Amino acid sequence: MSTFDLIIRGGTIATASDVFKADIGIRDGKIVQIGAALEGATEVIDATGKYVLPGGIDSHVHISQPSGEGISMADDFESGTLSALFGGNTTIMPFCLQEKGRPLREALNAYHELAEGSCYTDVSFHLIVSDASPTLLGQELAALAEEGYASFKVFMTYENLRLNDAEILKTLDVARQTGSTVMIHCENEDAIRYLVEKHEAAGDVAPRAHATTRPIAAEREATHRALTLAEIAEVPIVIVHVSNGQAMDEISRARARGLKVYSETCPQYLMLTAEDLDGMDWEGAKFVCSPPPRDKAAQEDCWRGIETGVFDLFSSDHCPFRYDDEHGKRAPKALESFRHIPNGIPGVETRMPILFSEGVMKGRIDLPRFVALTATNHARTYGLYPEKGTIAIGSDADIAIWDPSVKKTIRHADLHDGADYTPYEGVEVTGWPTTVILRGRVMIRNGELVGRKGDGQYQTARTRTL
Ligand code: URP
Ligand code: ZN
Ligand code: ZN
Ligand code: ZN
Repeated sequence: MSTFDLIIRGGTIATASDVFKADIGIRDGKIVQIGAALEGATEVIDATGKYVLPGGIDSHVHISQPSGEGISMADDFESGTLSALFGGNTTIMPFCLQEKGRPLREALNAYHELAEGSCYTDVSFHLIVSDASPTLLGQELAALAEEGYASFKVFMTYENLRLNDAEILKTLDVARQTGSTVMIHCENEDAIRYLVEKHEAAGDVAPRAHATTRPIAAEREATHRALTLAEIAEVPIVIVHVSNGQAMDEISRARARGLKVYSETCPQYLMLTAEDLDGMDWEGAKFVCSPPPRDKAAQEDCWRGIETGVFDLFSSDHCPFRYDDEHGKRAPKALESFRHIPNGIPGVETRMPILFSEGVMKGRIDLPRFVALTATNHARTYGLYPEKGTIAIGSDADIAIWDPSVKKTIRHADLHDGADYTPYEGVEVTGWPTTVILRGRVMIRNGELVGRKGDGQYQTARTRTL
């Protein structure tokens, strides 16, 4: 009998703190040894000249989320996790959306049913609180947190999802009592409504107006308010999808006051600008997401946040809608006005290659920072560490082997999601995860899928103890 099921030999390993050359010995899905010249395995993968990194964790992904107005998302759990896997991820965290007037548990049961047997990566759910009813806040949410649903997202924007400040405070209170984590989408809905009505009245209904009517000031104000609410409720929060330097400054100031706040940015804020929404015909709709991409200066600010530690998390906010499709960005309703264009863009497969290429290969960040931003911090923030998010003895053998010599031009035709475009068409990247291992099982070998649908499992999260 072999000592190991699998040895990954000769690669350069990186964790959030170290870079070193060693072999990894895997048994029963776990990392059981890290050392020189390991021998005795059923299978050996030669990783000479490659980087051996923790599998990516994308903690901000929307899949099969009800979207209203005859619009439906382009990815289910099968295509969404397959695409994630090809982009070097081994765990994704999608959102389970509470339907207004219904128990969250009902949505959760339905969501589990959709995921069961369909996944190529592990998954763990966040809960979206859209109806802050006394029953939900008084009993249900705390019970769910104890069962391992330990992160909730609340929205300050979107007419049908937003909570008011009182409701956000009550949700934060449940989080404090249960040690759960609240993610907040920060944009001032009333200010946006005011601008949307003005632009629509003036006949300005093209996709670009989506960005014009969601200005930086609306994000900055809401970010400030969210941080203030968290300060009053005395609980850590996550500010998700931060798009610009002014919102970053609010976060830095809150930290200087002693607040525990985590923050996230996404590829769209490094790679796109509002000008992309100007595309011919209705093409600009391909880039409609909230908050919208800003300008070159905001991109530079976000890079600074990546480099200096303002951001803890780099997520995709993958929220795929098809473009040329009656259920997506060109749905009949969407064509009437930017207000009805479904918000969100695909990106779960391109998230890490973009940061690896633009960040690591161009010398803006080192490998440990890349690993922290794409894996370790996600596991730590959302209660999956240390089983997930690192390469250590006892951790799940979730590993992506990156080939830094691969040069690729991003083309939607090569991606695996259910959308019909990528916002990053034509972007050239260096480095790609060519072999991906999930709990010791080789899922992608040298770019070829060898794992099976259903190999991904649900992961229960832990609440915070400190
Ligand atoms: O436009 C976006 N970001 N859509 C996804 C939903 C959200 O707000 O995260
Ligand atoms: Zn959001
Ligand atoms: Zn999102
Ligand atoms: Zn269709």
